[in-house]
Amino acid sequence: TDKAIPGGDTVKVEFEDGIAWVHLNRPEKRNAMSVGLAREMNAVFDALEVDDRAGCIVLTGSGEAFSSGMDLKDFFRATDGISDVERHRAYRETRAWQWRTLMYYAKPTIAMVNGWCFGGAFTPLICCDLAIADEDAVFGLSEINWGIIPGGVVSKAISTLMGDREALYYVMTGEKFDGRRAKELGLVNEAVPKDRLKARTRELAKILIDKNPTVLRQARMAYKYAREMNWEQAAEYLTAKGDQTTFVDREKGREQGLTQFLDEKTFKPGHGHYKR
Ligand code: ACO
Repeated sequence: TDKAIPGGDTVKVEFEDGIAWVHLNRPEKRNAMSVGLAREMNAVFDALEVDDRAGCIVLTGSGEAFSSGMDLKDFFRATDGISDVERHRAYRETRAWQWRTLMYYAKPTIAMVNGWCFGGAFTPLICCDLAIADEDAVFGLSEINWGIIPGGVVSKAISTLMGDREALYYVMTGEKFDGRRAKELGLVNEAVPKDRLKARTRELAKILIDKNPTVLRQARMAYKYAREMNWEQAAEYLTAKGDQTTFVDREKGREQGLTQFLDEKTFKPGHGHYKR
């Protein structure tokens, strides 16, 4: 393909067999997130959503960090001195990719936590669909340690995955924890040794890439929206979403599944997906 590779100075993208590896790419700053990085991330995610080379996105960090959180210099100090309107824009651009874009992205996303993960880095971590960490990666809600609250949407994000006792414990103490503990807390699906991190992430991405992409997208959206609804609304919405899925699925997965299981007897849904 002659399509340009999206990214820039602060975000690096690599394509490999249907996976787009998106790197926070300021290793010399432990991938601290600046205003400029937010702009690049927004452009990258916009581009990848319609790029056939990206069947699954893996968000990770260059070098020894996933991300050391928001950049104290190039995000906080830099926005202290500008107008309210510009500051509002900087915050909005950061929230855009870290939260809304990732939470409702058209393609499946995996966060691969390869090292330091602090403060603001919890938002994109949590807003990815799935997450795998190096068991020795170091996490921390370090905001309290330097005199701010877990802002942006960090406090909201952690409340969706962590229990209140545990979330408040780390919000209040700023204590660090490792990847194994992140798994116990429900922040990541798995914690694996460093030398298995990339292989295991690749394996999981491959499983997702092999699914019917339309149905996979609809299933992710259905889950994320239904969890915000009451039971009556969810029942109505999910029935409608199911019908919509059948309608928009060009591959006609439901029909394939029924035929291959009931008539041809060539597969059993309990064991894996139908032949695509
Ligand atoms: N903001 C700005 N600069 C940063 C950040 C950050 N969040 N994290 C690291 N850097 C810079 C350092 O200032 C240093 O810059 P320099 O080389 O110009 O002096 C460079 O990145 C390397 O960092 P070191 O501290 O030297 O690396 P080390 O491996 O010793 O420590 C660690 C890594 C533990 C991540 C440390 O850098 C740190 O505590 N960073 C801040 C973590 C944090 O609390 N982030 C903010 C969370 S709150 C929020 O996101 C809203």
